[in-house]
Order: sequence, then structure tokens, then C-alpha cells
Amino acid sequence: MNKNIAIRRVRSVHRRAKPTDTRELGFGRYFSDHFFATEFDRTNGWNLTRIEPMRPLQIDAAAICLHYGQEVFEGLKAYRGKDNGIYLFRWRRNAARLRNSCSRLMMETVDEEFFGRAVKTLVLVDQDWIPNEPDCSLYIRPTIIATDPFLGVRAGDEYAFYIIVGPVGAYYPGGFNPIRIWVSDEDVRAVKGGLGEAKTAANYAHSLCAQQKATALGYSQVLWLDAIHHQWVEEVGTMNIFFRTKDEVITPPLAGTILPGVTRDSVITLCRHWGIPVQERPISIDEVIDRTASGELLECFGTGTAAVISPVGTLSYQGRETVINQHRTGELAQRLYDYLTRLQRGEEEDVFGWVERIDHQEIEELARWKE
Ligand code: COI
Repeated sequence: MNKNIAIRRVRSVHRRAKPTDTRELGFGRYFSDHFFATEFDRTNGWNLTRIEPMRPLQIDAAAICLHYGQEVFEGLKAYRGKDNGIYLFRWRRNAARLRNSCSRLMMETVDEEFFGRAVKTLVLVDQDWIPNEPDCSLYIRPTIIATDPFLGVRAGDEYAFYIIVGPVGAYYPGGFNPIRIWVSDEDVRAVKGGLGEAKTAANYAHSLCAQQKATALGYSQVLWLDAIHHQWVEEVGTMNIFFRTKDEVITPPLAGTILPGVTRDSVITLCRHWGIPVQERPISIDEVIDRTASGELLECFGTGTAAVISPVGTLSYQGRETVINQHRTGELAQRLYDYLTRLQRGEEEDVFGWVERIDHQEIEELARWKE
């Protein structure tokens, strides 16, 4: 569909300041010199495809995305390997999820090949922004927005697809360490038939209110329960959630309200590959608390692209705290974190075909530079 679109490249004359100490990176604070952008209208399809110096977007104040939230996005990372290669992890999954999110929000989308070429070309243009330290990477944020100026409520006819990238360190200021979680039994993240499966701004805007309550009480994230019974565990913060008992790993099923995380799928696949049974089944907050008290539940952790694996050390539910694994990182969380972060940098055998080392020559040919 978008096969023959050339990417025009305009190189920035300015170099933005890079943080000198990667410990200061944090998450989502720094952006590279360039961004990728392309625009869609019903007559021309995707056109004006380019990589140009990073700048504020010019967008009509009446643009549909600004009023009715027709926006979807993705998050993935590029890694610098010890061999100096640049690696991407399962990017086709992000391309597929972006398409599903677009479909849910009645938006124009891009095909996998175009998505991959756009990501790889931008990463190569700004490759000197990929941090070389462990636990650091280049975060990639592809986004599609409806841009036509119209205030009646309908799906847009004009769209922009753009990608920004920036160096990131640990998502949580505490790094890879157990976090304290507040279980929300009033605010919910998603309802069946709603937007929970889509990666769209509304889900994150909607989470802020409960997040503020958690922060005020001294917790770093919210654990979300289902919208009807306020019993079934769904997600933690912006991540999928896993529990480990001595016999198995349990994670809530993808039944319409949960984001199909790439790390979630990777963790399920890896555990099964390692001989650890995984059950995708509903798990209630009561089961979590009872089985922690009885010593059966050994670990809990969140999974996501940003944090990779985030151990959960303490849960606060209805005013009572439950401490998991003495608020220490569990052995499975540690094993998964180590394995995934090494695999993502090309340092583990890629048994599943998840890792792609960007081929500079292929991209040079595909990009059809017009400098
Ligand atoms: C992730 O965990 O990768 C996320 O989706 C978080 C992101 C919204 C910052």
C-alpha cells in the first residue's frame, strides 16, 4: 500500500544538546535532531514523506485530534550492541498494534513495510543519539493524528503520521527495583467495549486522576481492577501484570480491556520456553492478597517497553498493605530482565527471531535519499 513512498531527508544544521551524563536521562525528556513525518489526504494518500529537523508541529487549532482525541501511538526502542550494531526488537508487533489501534479509532493507518522503513531510516539518521550504556536506549514514538479542521464529530479525512525519538534511561527514578503500588477500587482504566486494547492518548489521560491519588498516598503506580466487579486484576500503571506462584506464572487474559503488550507476549513465550507453565486467566485481588499471605504467591511484576520488567514490592488495597517477596526483586523478574535486555542488544542467541540488526545498506537503498 505505501511501498513506493520515498523519504525526503533534510538534515538539521543545528545539533541539539545531549545530556553528558546518561544517569540524567530519565525517560522522555530528550529528543533527537530530526523527526519523521508524512501526511495523508483522500486524494494523494500518504505524501510529503520526509525526515526533517525536529521542530514544533504546525497544526490547525480546529484539528480533529485536538478536540475529539483521534490519536494513536506506539512505543519501541533501538539499542546499541557491543558490536556497535543497532538493534530493534519485535517492531512488526508495534506496526500491527498501531494498525489495530487505528482501526478501533476509525483512523487511516500505515502498513508494516512503511512503518519499518520509517523507523529504521530515522534511527539511522539520528544514530548518534542511541546511548551506549547498559539500561539505556533510544525510545521511538510513532504517532498518528487526525488533522483536518472540523468541529462536527466524525472520523478525520486527513492525518499526520510522525515519529520522534530520544535517548532514555530507566523509566522509574529508582531504576530496576521493586515499586509500591496502590490498588484502585473506584477509578478504572478501561471497560469492555471501550478503548482498553488500543494504544491511544485517552487511556493515559484517563489514568491521571487515579495516579494522582496514588502519588498523594506515597505509591508510585496504580493497580487497575475490572470496571464491573472491581475484583479482577487488569494492569499496573502503564504495564501488563504478572504473578508467580511456586508452580506457575499467571497473567490476566487479553479479553478486550487490556493492552496487548509486546513485552507481555515475550515474557509468556520465554517462560514457556524455560519450562515454566503460564496461565492466562482472570486473577482477583482477593486471590493475590490471600495467596501472598499464605506464602504461595512469590512474585509480582509489571511488563512494558519503557521499564521492561518492573518488580512490585508492596500493594495497598483498601488501606492495608501487602508486601510481596519482602519487597525484594524476585528471581524470575531478575532472570527475565537480564535475558530480555541482553537479547535486545544482540547478546543472546535469538531463538525466536525477535531481534533485527538494522542493515545500513538496505536502508540507504530504501530511503532513496534526496539530499
Ligand atoms: C510502556 O510501558 O512501554 C508504556 O506504554 C509506557 C509509555 C506510555 C511511557
